[in-house]
Amino acid sequence: MTDDLKERIATELAGVRRRSLTYTDADDNFLTCQHSPIMSPLVWDLAHVGNYEELWVLREVGGITPLRPEIDDLYDAFKTPRKDRPSLPILGPAEARRYISGVRGRVLDVLDAADLSAPDPLRRDGFVFGLVIQHEHQHDETMLATLQLSGESGLLPEVPHPPAPVVDAAAEVHVPAGPFLMGTDEHPWAYDNERPVHRVDLPAYWIDRYPVTNGRYLEFIESGGYGDPRWWTPEGWEWRMGTGAFAPLFWSRDSSGWLRTRFGRVEALPPAEPVQHVCWYEADAYARWAGRRLPTEAEWEKACGWDAGADRARRHPWGDAPPAAELANLAQRRAGPSPVGAFPAGVSPYGVEQMIGDVWEWTSSFFTGYPGFSSFPYREYSEVFFGRDYRVLRGGSWATHPTAIRTTFRNWDYPIRRQIFSGFRCARSASPGEA
Ligand code: AVJ
Ligand code: FE
Repeated sequence: MTDDLKERIATELAGVRRRSLTYTDADDNFLTCQHSPIMSPLVWDLAHVGNYEELWVLREVGGITPLRPEIDDLYDAFKTPRKDRPSLPILGPAEARRYISGVRGRVLDVLDAADLSAPDPLRRDGFVFGLVIQHEHQHDETMLATLQLSGESGLLPEVPHPPAPVVDAAAEVHVPAGPFLMGTDEHPWAYDNERPVHRVDLPAYWIDRYPVTNGRYLEFIESGGYGDPRWWTPEGWEWRMGTGAFAPLFWSRDSSGWLRTRFGRVEALPPAEPVQHVCWYEADAYARWAGRRLPTEAEWEKACGWDAGADRARRHPWGDAPPAAELANLAQRRAGPSPVGAFPAGVSPYGVEQMIGDVWEWTSSFFTGYPGFSSFPYREYSEVFFGRDYRVLRGGSWATHPTAIRTTFRNWDYPIRRQIFSGFRCARSASPGEA
């Protein structure tokens, strides 16, 4: 049993490292320069994941003395804001690769010797390995956002989208009133912010069957949505005026119509794909214009995973099976979201589609701890971000790895951020007669 687990962990460690090395297979200048002030140089992310692995696996679990204590501060995300990272004496690409592979070799020795059935919560069920694997996958997604900002092309495979039938992109699903179980105590690699599982009783509501598409979002733009303060919160309108934004990030227009730039390629805007690269303020404004609102994260999670018939939550909308290719658009199989209707087999018990994969979905909720939250294994993963500065995103994007997504997984960001692979779907409260 633990041997199977160890084998799985070793495979996942190798897989995520292959992914990181693919995204950093570029010349030194490309890796060390800063493509955007809100992102790190790619070489920083690369050494940071190795340093994190050293801290948690080698030092905390393996009891191994620091390999390079002098670099710890450089890779502490709290000590050095992203914009300052290029001016630091960080490791160069060759040195970074050498460092992370040196760490990795010792990590495999620690894995070999570890007792994964020990009561210690870092060791039990391989939690600490799950922590570093998910951490590296999250940084890989961040690196993809950096690559998109850089305008770089040619790094991504292009698997064709599954055939998408023509569907009603505006369809809604009714979720009846009633309690469900939010969060998890069961997933051995769940983050502290997903715990503990707790009962939430929701009134009836409607939620979009699909994420909002480019085509629907374009109606908001063309009806003057970016010029009408009625649809925006005061902070949202301030953002809109301050930035001059007129459309999602990476959209442009020429005489042929609307275009979008994707990893350096300029393409006609595909109307059936979920809208991507919108910030929370834009999602919120669209919803108000449409006579809707964003779902709360509880509404999102119930619609995604709750199986009322079985009185239990599913790990994924379709069940507990891992996300196969016909169930969800994950793992950068293609460099963008798939048209709505492309994953009928991934439908949730309530009939909602494409909740996992394609685009991260903004919710109306601030990032906070669930009742009974307790930070583990460190406050700086989740707890220091609790409050009213961040909004929660759910469901993962096409760039998210299956190991780092599930019904209960919570992501968060500032409401102005749109370099991430973010979209949304709308909801509305059911009227009294409908409950
Ligand atoms: C959960 C995606 C908001 O990237 O800031 C990476 C994940 N935490 N390193 C982030 C994370 C520490 C985090 N997000
Ligand atoms: Fe990190």
